[in-house]
Amino acid sequence: MIGRDLLGIEDLERSDIERILETAERMQEIGERQVKKVPTLRGRTIVNLFFEPSTRTRASFEIAGKRLSADVVNFSPGASSLSKAESILDTALTLDAMDPDVVIVRHKVAGVPKRLADSLRAPVVNAGDGAHEHPTQALLDMLTVKQEKGRIDGLTVTIIGDIAHSRVARSNIYGFSKMGAEVRVVGPPPMLPADVESLGVKAYISLREALEGADVVMALRIQLERVQGALFPSIREYAATFGLDRAKLRYAKDDAIVMHPGPVNRGVELSHDLADHRPSVILDQVRNGVALRMAVLYLIAGLAPGEESAP
Ligand code: NCD
Repeated sequence: MIGRDLLGIEDLERSDIERILETAERMQEIGERQVKKVPTLRGRTIVNLFFEPSTRTRASFEIAGKRLSADVVNFSPGASSLSKAESILDTALTLDAMDPDVVIVRHKVAGVPKRLADSLRAPVVNAGDGAHEHPTQALLDMLTVKQEKGRIDGLTVTIIGDIAHSRVARSNIYGFSKMGAEVRVVGPPPMLPADVESLGVKAYISLREALEGADVVMALRIQLERVQGALFPSIREYAATFGLDRAKLRYAKDDAIVMHPGPVNRGVELSHDLADHRPSVILDQVRNGVALRMAVLYLIAGLAPGEESAP
């Protein structure tokens, strides 16, 4: 992956995913040390270019870069020339001229990371573009499942919620399918894209049926800022029908785990209790996100061509 972009899970082979997950497992140990830093990316520069608000993803990339000793620059549009109407591409080209080794991009419009990747010299990592893809989220989700269940192949993964508008759902559909899991999606019909089964998943409108036999249950955030009133009659009704609580979780396998990419609307897509306690693994996902992003940065920027050794 040296020097390559990471724009989506759709572009990856199963062997690429396996390599990233194995590298992330080696990175986890660094986060458990008292001194959480190795010199692997010393002298490399990473630019975090986030045009859309983010708490966990941006902090996770920043901590990942710093644990590998890279210099990390956070670019926030509000404080920049973007408020002087400089175009996204001009902004990115200006930063690119400062010779960063990786540029991490989040934007509310699908396709922006790809457009920038076509023009920048630095490799681009997509940190979420519109409703398209969020590859590092799916990779950290796969890492979490691999560690909880010991495998991904052969598992049943049920994703609940607004599939149509979720980049997390799309990336996870590609990823878990490539890794050999059966992926199911469920939600109110307006939240299920008409052609979703062409992605190789089974679509359900009954939560109970979608949960039967599930090993992994992933709830998505209801994007209140966008969908209120449009896709379902009321939040209360959504919570009653599709909100996951312990009673509904009983339809899944006894040892099913519950995941959520965050931020959680407590009492909407997840009960308060499930948001905070096992079998939900939400904070493990966050913790694994740092190791996973360390792996991605290392694989893209950490080795000179021909070099093989890992930290
Ligand atoms: C998600 C995102 O921004 O795509 N959050 C995240 O990255 N952890 C999901 C969301 O905002 O609903």
